[in-house]
Amino acid sequence: EKGVPTPQWRPAYHFTPQNNWTNDPNGLIFLNGEFNLYYQHNPFENKWGHMSWGHATSKDLISWKHLPVAIPEVITKDTTTWIYSGSAVLDKNNTSGFGVNGKPPLVAIFTADQPKQKKESQFIAYSNDGGLSYKQYAKNPVIDLNMHDFRDPNVFWHEESKQWVMTVSMVDEHMVRFYGSKNLKDWTKLSDFGPAGFTKNGWECPSILPLVVDGNPANIKWVLFVSLGGEHGPLIQYFVGDFDGTTFKNINDNSKILKTDYGDAFYAAIAWRDAPQNKKILLGWLQNGRQETYPWKGQMSIPHDLSLKTTSEGLVLNQLPSVFVTKALPKYAKGKPVEKKNVTIGSSGLKLPGDGNAYWIDAEFDIKNAKRVGFNVVEKAGTDKKVVVGYDAEKQQLFVDCTGSEKNNKSPENLVQTAPMSITGGIVKIKVLVDRSSLEVFGNDGEKVISTMIYPDKEATGLSAFADGEAAIKNLKLWNLNNDVK
Ligand code: FRU
Repeated sequence: EKGVPTPQWRPAYHFTPQNNWTNDPNGLIFLNGEFNLYYQHNPFENKWGHMSWGHATSKDLISWKHLPVAIPEVITKDTTTWIYSGSAVLDKNNTSGFGVNGKPPLVAIFTADQPKQKKESQFIAYSNDGGLSYKQYAKNPVIDLNMHDFRDPNVFWHEESKQWVMTVSMVDEHMVRFYGSKNLKDWTKLSDFGPAGFTKNGWECPSILPLVVDGNPANIKWVLFVSLGGEHGPLIQYFVGDFDGTTFKNINDNSKILKTDYGDAFYAAIAWRDAPQNKKILLGWLQNGRQETYPWKGQMSIPHDLSLKTTSEGLVLNQLPSVFVTKALPKYAKGKPVEKKNVTIGSSGLKLPGDGNAYWIDAEFDIKNAKRVGFNVVEKAGTDKKVVVGYDAEKQQLFVDCTGSEKNNKSPENLVQTAPMSITGGIVKIKVLVDRSSLEVFGNDGEKVISTMIYPDKEATGLSAFADGEAAIKNLKLWNLNNDVK
């Protein structure tokens, strides 16, 4: 079925499939200088279904090479097997025995969803051609609890305990189950974590990552991520703690809820664990709810470099657009960035170029006695329809306010999205990434993130900085990314 083409909402510097549906990122793996992205994909329609793993690669996390479907759905007379979310590893030492001619295989570990049997179990498949195509293991499933909702295995090599470790979701029990394996085929239960934190919705897409604390590589804590969809979601909560190869121990009280993102779009995120410079790079699906786009639907977030920081709120996650992205960005920008330094903004605001709704702002405000500072992102030329992004000094919140927007596609409780954030010395730093239909806001060097979807008109190029009261822009750089990235 055909839709109405929406090129005005096709992102310029975020991943979208050329055609048809995507949801979760899958099997993120860095290989031979390239970031591999597999993704939940319906190869046939612009809606969820026929779940398969689509595939693309990138050298810089901005432009993507689209490749054939890597793992298609499997249909036999009795069974339909959908390839749900999961991960991929390079089996360097051929522990699985799937390697040929001394070449290490890639092994994908994912959930086989079998709607007719109402069953989810864990499958593996292997690739001997560098990840382009995978063969299903003949003795699948490798883990089968005869459950309906048991999914999203995320696997990594744990050097200290010399084993593969898997986190996988017991969706309705609100638990993450840990398994260990020597060969990726035989799995032994290690432990369970949960219920904990937010439990009103099913738990999906768990993963655990070792992250550097306060820039000290000798100080590592583990962060366990869990996605929750549904009525109160989407939400990705995380827990900080220690992992000894068997058990995860939360350093906080299990009732404490920590949010990865404060918007209504960022979901099912997992990380590249093996990127250069020891970066752990989180990539999420940006859900776009009820708004149709065509000929694709769904997109990925900007990739986030992760670390842990000690703040007044305790030991928390810090997220910034990946350095791989920011390094490549100037290459994709039209001309030099627009720069402002020590400019006062009053009630009339400051006009800025917002060409084609694809741009990137790095700003530092001196808030002085203003109530709020930030940006008006115009939605419709010649009207006052807009999305307002900024910092509210009174409420001490980073915010995205869509109440003045017409085409925001938000449920009433998500019209205003906020993240608690304190500042010192009246200085606030904000990054605003607008990419035609996505809006991502990073506050204070990565302390808080709000990701959401917006749907401005093609002609709505208006953008301005504002202050309620008088404030100053200490520094601002704006890159025009209104290029069609090849
Ligand atoms: C999360 C999710 C996963 C599942 C996949 C199916 O968005 O529901 O739990 O594996 O999507 O497409």
